[in-house]
This record gives sequence, structure tokens and C-alpha cells, in this order.
Amino acid sequence: MSRILVTNALPYANGPLHLGHMVGYIQADIWVRFQRMCGNDVVYVCADDAHGTPIMLAAEKAGVSPETFIAGIREGHEADFKAFGVAFDHYHSTHSAENKALSDDIYTRLDKAGLIEPRTIEQAYDPVKAMFLPERYIKGECPKCGTADQYGDNCENCGATYSPTELKNPKSVVSGATPVLKESEHYFFKLSDLQTEVQAWLGSAVVPSSVKAKLGEWLNAGLKDWDISRDAPYFGFEIPGKPGKFFYVWLDAPIGYFASLKAYCETDDGKARGLDFERYVKDPDYAQLWHFIGKDIINFHGLFWPAMLKGAGYRQPTGLSVNGYLTVNGAKMSKSRGTFIKARTYLDAGLNPEYLRYYFATLLTPEPTDVDLDLVAFKEIIDSHIVGKYVNIASRCVGFIHSLAGGMLPSKFEGSDEVGAYVREHVEPLIAMMESGIIGPSPVAPKEEDADRSAQAALGGAALIKYLLSSAINIKGWYRDRNYAVCIREFVILSDKVNTYIHENAPWKFAKDSATQQQAVEVATVALNCFRLLTLFIKPIMPTLALRAEQLLGLEREPLSWNDLGKLMLSTPLNTYESLAARVDKDQVQSMTDASKEDLAPSQTPAPATKAAATEPKTKPAVTAAPASAEASPTINIDDFTKIDLRIARIENAESVEGADKLLKLTLDVGPLGKRQVFAGIKSAYPPEKLVGRLTVMVANLAPRKMRFGMSEGMVLAASNDEAGPFLLMPDDGAAPGMRVK
Ligand code: 2FM
Ligand code: ZN
Repeated sequence: MSRILVTNALPYANGPLHLGHMVGYIQADIWVRFQRMCGNDVVYVCADDAHGTPIMLAAEKAGVSPETFIAGIREGHEADFKAFGVAFDHYHSTHSAENKALSDDIYTRLDKAGLIEPRTIEQAYDPVKAMFLPERYIKGECPKCGTADQYGDNCENCGATYSPTELKNPKSVVSGATPVLKESEHYFFKLSDLQTEVQAWLGSAVVPSSVKAKLGEWLNAGLKDWDISRDAPYFGFEIPGKPGKFFYVWLDAPIGYFASLKAYCETDDGKARGLDFERYVKDPDYAQLWHFIGKDIINFHGLFWPAMLKGAGYRQPTGLSVNGYLTVNGAKMSKSRGTFIKARTYLDAGLNPEYLRYYFATLLTPEPTDVDLDLVAFKEIIDSHIVGKYVNIASRCVGFIHSLAGGMLPSKFEGSDEVGAYVREHVEPLIAMMESGIIGPSPVAPKEEDADRSAQAALGGAALIKYLLSSAINIKGWYRDRNYAVCIREFVILSDKVNTYIHENAPWKFAKDSATQQQAVEVATVALNCFRLLTLFIKPIMPTLALRAEQLLGLEREPLSWNDLGKLMLSTPLNTYESLAARVDKDQVQSMTDASKEDLAPSQTPAPATKAAATEPKTKPAVTAAPASAEASPTINIDDFTKIDLRIARIENAESVEGADKLLKLTLDVGPLGKRQVFAGIKSAYPPEKLVGRLTVMVANLAPRKMRFGMSEGMVLAASNDEAGPFLLMPDDGAAPGMRVK
């Protein structure tokens, strides 16, 4: 038995959860349930991330105190998590006595270790509102291209990056006043002193390989000291002994993980479990510590947090699980398309929350790949995998046990003794070897091989069960490694195999004649024993459906566990079959997107492609084209138009640009014109891997422009307006790279 503390990134208490948030929570909850089904002792905590300027201003706008504001948000978050089956042991808030005490303790220890240093910095200040302004709270004209209404850090029109002091006509977003520069004393955490320690931690922590590489790059570039204080007015904790100075929200946010654990330890449940808080947070040999986070916050969890913990004498994390962003129907979530879907809107439409868990799981791997919720595929997958394959097994077989065997599975079937021996001699030793790290689960099978395995002729009864049991070894390993996508692929293959077995052994034919009825019972018994295993496989993902299946199989008193894989159901009374799952109702999907469209009012949450990833409000998507206008541009003649050399280009490669949130670096194949490198502000709408291979239209004779990240040799064309986009142009079939567009 292992002790494991699992946390999920704390959602900001500034708005409701949307489906982008749910990816990481569902990923963690599945893992927690799996670990518990293996007999491990898991504590799973979370909290609202309640501090910071955006929340302070949102409360002010709502005309309530920040405390009242965050209380309302927390209620909504907790209800949504519960509805999606995300079952924390405890849900807390960073604005809590526990978090105050722990933040003070960690800060004081860092200070005593000589890791805190005061420095005077100059920052933009709003003289009307009497507050310092974070970069995102200053807007003005881009110093490069002059576009109005740009944020203080970069231009959404031309992609230029700059500091707020370079903006022309800067204005405070809060009061409209012109900001002035003002000095203030800030406190810095000397991260640079802990470079070696963070490097050592990264060497031993379990972190997705791509994330490890990124963190390694940052470490090699050298850690910079981190400003951990903010001036009043600020909603947060005042720094001990520094009146008017507050901890920056990101200082006390991760400490909130421990605060939630502390609060849980003091509940009746926590006490009954005999949890030893001090050992959880100080002794890495006592329990594992896993943080599930989104890929936008790996710097905080992979550099700052391990450094803080080390510097303060606390234990460091065992591992990070990192999820990617959510897109819907292949593009950034968009309010106007009805794809900016709140968790509550999904539920209110009547859609089954476990269907979303399953769909997400089909796409979740240990690497932070983006997840696309394709609403057509969503229905197809659920209808096929869950209703058509898995549930179908029970609905086809339970009736025979009732009509031919008095509702009781027989005490044995042909080969049933063999199965027990197979588990003892084969399955259990392999699982033990995997648990001690001697072997790992099978490398992921190629898709063609999967198809071959599904198509194979049916195995005989005991052989079929043994086949599922041998797959169980791998499925257990893949779950452990958070490779749910592969678990599901295997689950589907196995469900197909069981359906083939039923089909080829046609119990309905045997059932007709009393001389062969026993064979019908035997086939149904084998299939239902397989159904039991399939239920075990799917239980971490769809716990409610699995519970109903367990009830049908009379297993409520001995819920399925990964430790009794080979326990066959013999002499077991079954309950009568009632529909376990229904197909996805298209109208419900439609009503969800309709309701999301109606919900166009600007919210306090930013509108990123994912979860609420930024602390500061962001309202406009990044676009390549100039802002949309209701009026047509002045007339030009054909000569003006032909000056623009528009060409079809194939996107050969697309990648993110370090240090530019909005840009993708595209390598374009323009046929006879050769290759071009273009930087395009379309990252918010397109995951780079989705673009590779597709055709688009580019301006091929635009003067090359030197950007901070390299030369941009042209421009790709995309449509957008204030609410939606960018939408990249795509030619009809037949167009080829280099063709002229005229
Ligand atoms: O990015 C976010 O949404 C933050 N609220 C996550 C905080 S995680 C932890 F460190 F508290
Ligand atoms: Zn600009």
C-alpha cells in the first residue's frame, strides 16, 4: 500500500468553471480512483485560488466584499466538481487561516535562510485609483504599428512585444487615468540561489518528458529572482512585519495545497483516517506528492514551487501530471460559435457528465497534448463504445440467466478452474513484477495491430476470459502511467472480442431447445464474467455507470478492485437488467451550444483556449488581420489589387514561439517560390499540430519583417471580427502550393 497526496491546480475564484477546466480535474480524479481501486491510500485535495488583483476588482465591480465574492464562486465550483464526479476529500480556499499560517511559515523560513531580498522597483501606477498596475491593466497604442487598445505587454495586431512604458497614450484599464511611474520596495525570492537544488529535484521527479525538457531549458538559461510581493491595495495576505506589502497570489496559491490538506486533517474524516499532516509535508518517504496541472503553469510548479519547498525545509513533489489545452470542434473555444461551454451549461443541457469523462479519457496521455472536444465525434464515440459495445454485452446476456437459470450464475463452466490457476501462475506474478518496476506495461500497440486483434475469430470461453486477464496487466500499467487513451483502446478491442464471442456462440439459438439450454447459460456466464472485467477496466473513468453494473451483477458488497482480478462470478445471483446507458441526445448537444451562445455577456474570466489561465482579464483573441470594421475600405483599382501576390501555401511545419503567447512560427511551402518562414498571430485558435499539412493563402510579396523571434517572410490570411476568429483561409480541393490567387 502506498500513501499518495494528489492535488489539482486551484481554480481562480473569479468565475464559473468551463469545460477547459474540466480536462485536468477529470484526469486527476480518474487516477485517484484507479489508485484507490489498487488499495492505495490516497488523499485528494483542492481549493479555490482566491487572491489577487482581478478578484479584488471583480468583487468591487459586483459591489461586494472580496470575501463575499469568493464565497459565492466557491459554492459554484464545488457543485460543478461534484456533478462531474470529481470527488475531492477536501475542498478549501487559499483565503483561509490554514493558508495564512503556512504561507507565513514558509516565507519566514525562506527569509531566515537568507533567500528573501528587498529591492526598489519602478512600476506603472494609477494616480486616480491609487494602485500599482499589472501590465495587463494598461492599454494604449502599439509603439510599432500604432494599433489602438493594445495591452501593456504585446500587440495583438503586429505581434510586437514591449514594456508598458513604451505604449503610446497609455491608460489605466481600471480608471482610465494616465499611469505614472512610481518607485516601490518589493521583496524578491532568490531563486537563483537554488538553481542546483531545483536541477537535482527535476532529475529525480516524474515529469512528462516534453515538460522536463522545457524546464531544463529554463534552468540552463539560469533562474531569475522572483518578485513575491505586491503593494496595497491587494486582496491577499499581508507579509509578516511588512505593513502594506502583500504576498503575490502565486506565492500563497501552491501553499494552498497544503492548507487544504491541513484543514482536511482536522475534519472528522481526516481524524478517522489518522492523517499525519507534518509527515505529509515534510517527509518524502512517508507519502508521494502529485500535482495535476495545466501546461500554462509548469514554471510555477516545476521551478518556483520546488525551490520554495526546498528553501523552507519542506518536502518536494514526487511528480507532475500536465494536461494540454481544450479546443472545441478543432478551434479555440468561442462564445459566438457557442463553444465556450461552462461546466454548468453542459449539465443543464441534460448531458451525462460521465460521457465527458470518457470522451476526455480517450484523448488523455502522459504528455500534455491538447484535447479537442469534437461534438460529432463525442456522440459517435459514446454511442459506439459505451452503448453499442460495452452495455450491449450485459443487455444481451443477463436475460438468459433469468429465463434459463433462475437468475443465478452456475457454480462452474467449462474451463472455470483453469482461469483461477492462470491468474495465480501468470497474471499475479506479472503484476507484481510491474509493481516493483522490473517490467512495464506493453509499449503502445500500433493501430493496425489493434484492428487485427479485434477481427480475430472468437476464443473459447475460458480462453476469452484469460485473454482479458492478460490485458488487465497492461491496462493496470497504462492507468498507473496516466495513459488513459491506450486503456480505452484496449477496452474497446476487448469489448469487441466479447461481442464476437456472443455473436459466434449465439446463445439465443441454444436457448430455444431444452437440450442445449445449458450451453446458452454457459455462453452468457462467460460473457458476463468478461463484462465484470470490462466494468473494472472502465470504473475509474465512469464510476456511476460501473456502480450500476456492479449492482446488476450483485457485486455491491465486494466492489471491483484491481487486487482480485481473477475472482470469477460463479453461483452469483443477478439483478434484473435495466438500461445502463443511453445514446447521446443530439438535441441536448444543440441546446448546450445554443445556451452557450446566449451567454455572450463578458465574464470576469479571460477567454483563453483553455482553462482560466491568466490572472489578468483578456478579452480579445489574437488576430493576424486588422480589426474588423462595419464599413468597406476605400475603392482600389485592379492594378492595386494585382500588386498583391497571393499564393496557395502548404503549412509544412507549425510550432510555438518561446516568449510569444500569440504567435506560431509557420514554415510554408509555396511551390516554385520555395519555402517561407512566417510568424502568424493565430496560436489562440489553432494547436500547431492541427495545422501541419493543410493549405492556406499567403501574401507572398510582403516586405520581409524582422521580428524579435526571427524574419517573417509574408503573411497568412485569416478572417476575424471582435468576437470570433481568427479563421484561416483554405482553398478548395485541387489547389496546389504556389498557385496564384486572383
Ligand atoms: O492558473 C491558475 O488557474 C491558477 N489559479 C492555478 C493555481 S495552482 C496552485 F499553485 F495553486
Ligand atoms: Zn502593433
